[in-house]
Amino acid sequence: THKIILDTDPGIDDAMAILFAEAHPAIDLLAITTVFGNATIENGTHNALWLKQKYVMKADVAKGAAAPLLREPVGPTTVVHGPTGFGDVRAGEVSLSADPRPAWQYIVETVKAHPGEITLVTIGPLTNLALALQAAPEIAGLVREVVVMGGAFGVNGHRGNVTPYAEANIHDDPEAADMVFTADWPVVIIGLDVTQQSVFSGAYLDALRDEAGEPGRFLWDVSRFYLRFYSARIGMEGCHVHDPSAIAYVIDPSLFTLREGPVRVITQGPAIGHTLQKFDGNSHPHDEWAACPAQRVGVAVRDQALLALYRDTL
Ligand code: BDR
Ligand code: CA
Repeated sequence: THKIILDTDPGIDDAMAILFAEAHPAIDLLAITTVFGNATIENGTHNALWLKQKYVMKADVAKGAAAPLLREPVGPTTVVHGPTGFGDVRAGEVSLSADPRPAWQYIVETVKAHPGEITLVTIGPLTNLALALQAAPEIAGLVREVVVMGGAFGVNGHRGNVTPYAEANIHDDPEAADMVFTADWPVVIIGLDVTQQSVFSGAYLDALRDEAGEPGRFLWDVSRFYLRFYSARIGMEGCHVHDPSAIAYVIDPSLFTLREGPVRVITQGPAIGHTLQKFDGNSHPHDEWAACPAQRVGVAVRDQALLALYRDTL
């Protein structure tokens, strides 16, 4: 099994990913660490605690960063995920509380307690991981793998979703993302290049509602707002499978084709938040790539197999 810490900005597709991780026997969900992004840190953390309570999850919840590493705070993306992050659903009263430690400290201490065993899966901005690396760079050598949902590398013409050049999780904290991608630990990046290849159609979500018990009904409820956004914004009947794809990678890496090479993030100017990978093997004697470790980027996915895995798991 894979011991994972899931770093998230819950978030409609984050909820889809959390319930997927909780349901699959190959995953041991140790903790949910929260970060600003789709919702404020207060709302996102409340949403995580509410899910923990509702589904009697053993995972700890630790509250993370309210704002990017260096930049001014960015507001929640309410047009996509609704006023509090869960669309039309309001997370009710919660009697549980979060771990007393901030997310970065929770990550550092847990990684050190389980050397070589923890997979960090991120489905929000990368601020908590960057803070953890800053506080304890040695964790890079102790983590099993880092799996990131984020970025857009232009494979198959897939570009950004918040700007023509940038994907939301990277755009929300580009400096943090660049730090995570250039650290000396194994990173797998599941970006829009693959997440936009998989679609939860309206009919697929209806089937989950009818066949996946209470979690299926909750996922149907929480996805109504998201589907209205997709319909209004890009005329699509359904939604892309962003955050659950990172969990799918952990369960079954063979679903994805990966490309290897160092990755950087543009942190200034009109293409801020853009992700780049050097994969051509050419030598660029004066460039900065040489100092960066090779990471792996998803370039293709067996989408029907991924959809079947998600449905069967739920
Ligand atoms: C990512 O941005 C967020 O809105 C989603 O939850 C996902 O993590 C997709 O670009
Ligand atoms: Ca997310």
